[in-house]
Amino acid sequence: MTNKTWRVGVAGLGTVGGGLLQFLADRPDFAPAGDRAVVTAVSARSKSRPRTVDISGLTWFDDPVALAGSSDIDLFVELVGGSDGPAKAAVETALKAGKPVVTANKALIAEHGAELAALAEARGVPLMFEAAVMGGVPAVKIMREALVGDDIDSVAGILNGTCNFILSEMEKTGRSFADVLREAQALGYAEADPTMDVGGFDAGHKISILAALAFGCAPNFAAAEIEGISNVELLDIKLAKDLGYRIKLVASASRTDHGVAVKVHPSLAPLDHPLAQAGGALNALFIEGRRVGRIFVQGPGAGAGPTAAAVAADIADVMTGAVRPVFQAPAGELKPFIAVDPSRTVGKAYLRIMVRDEPGAIAAISETLAECGVSIDSFLQKPVEGAGGVPIVLVTHATPESNLLDAISRIEKLHAVLERPRLLRVARI
Ligand SMILES: NC(=O)c1ccc[n+]([C@@H]2O[C@H](COP(=O)([O-])OP(=O)(O)OC[C@H]3O[C@@H](n4cnc5c(N)ncnc54)[C@H](OP(=O)(O)O)[C@@H]3O)[C@@H](O)[C@H]2O)c1
Repeated sequence: MTNKTWRVGVAGLGTVGGGLLQFLADRPDFAPAGDRAVVTAVSARSKSRPRTVDISGLTWFDDPVALAGSSDIDLFVELVGGSDGPAKAAVETALKAGKPVVTANKALIAEHGAELAALAEARGVPLMFEAAVMGGVPAVKIMREALVGDDIDSVAGILNGTCNFILSEMEKTGRSFADVLREAQALGYAEADPTMDVGGFDAGHKISILAALAFGCAPNFAAAEIEGISNVELLDIKLAKDLGYRIKLVASASRTDHGVAVKVHPSLAPLDHPLAQAGGALNALFIEGRRVGRIFVQGPGAGAGPTAAAVAADIADVMTGAVRPVFQAPAGELKPFIAVDPSRTVGKAYLRIMVRDEPGAIAAISETLAECGVSIDSFLQKPVEGAGGVPIVLVTHATPESNLLDAISRIEKLHAVLERPRLLRVARI
């Protein structure tokens, strides 16, 4: 117990920054070690913008980089966002100045985590990012600390609340993606520019960080295979349900004999599976360890309160002096990230094939699938009003992705088939 008062500089006073300032104003002595954390200086884009907390007594910096380098703070908290620009420059400046850094910025850590870890470790200061993955759910601490005695084979989950909300609402209300997205924007669940969320990139950042922690390598966002939810149709949500599945945006990372596979796809989860039942804006994650078996965590992945609580937990760790490598090993000793060739991954898939209502269509499709080595697990043919053809829907047995893509290209060319078959993966959970 040192009973020290830590002078905290916070860059970014939006949703998370506002939540953190409020929390530290109410509970500066929250940390178990007896130290206090007091915000003394802040930075944001606009000094005059009304804030949810009073910042009049705090030192104001127009430039977050100047705040990060200020000798009047002991700890720098970055809540600006963005993989590059002022967030990255400010974090680098603080680390170079030997200051501990806490950030909620998944884009920054997923895209520049290894170089920032090297910088932090060279200066002997912590770089913490609990809030970057799953907001209030302590996913990073579980992976980095609690499971360090296990070997993780895979992680898979719902890591973007906006997409989960949109998919849940589409199913509940029978409305299109575009309609529900507009509502999510009005409710504040989705950004004015929703690309990071609905394009799957936000989930891709988070799963890249979890993959690094799970497999002891550096984050490699560029190697992630990413598909968002903007092409998910109501028709597929309904047909998947008839087959016993719910469509979720599933982010997964798994270790295979050929390397690491990091993926984000709209995927089918069995209706009775906990991932299928995590509705609304919830986040949920399965972790599969060799010794511990399966762990499931679920909770709020965003919002001022939960995310600020995760940032505060990191501040507490800094104050208690907990020292460990930023990822699972010192930056110079992280394993190389060997990305698996996606075509070599094996899994079950959902195919929706729109056909003309004519005899022989099913036979031709079955024959093509058999020729490509794709076998069928379940099958549904159901006329759907206004669907522009008859949908034939099937779920395959586990198949190499290359066989599936070959089958899709060949089925698309059949006379009875109206358009390229729609492929969705069945989540491996
Ligand atoms: N929102 C969540 O629930 C959540 C959850 C987990 C992680 N995160 C992460 O937390 C970080 C912050 O997210 P947020 O939702 O709080 O963002 P936000 O509400 O958009 O707030 C961003 C803040 O950064 C400031 N800012 C932007 N550009 C700046 C610049 N060039 N110089 C100085 N300040 C600048 C803004 O200033 P003004 O206020 O003056 O415009 C604003 O205060 C992001 O990395 C995000 O991914 C957020």
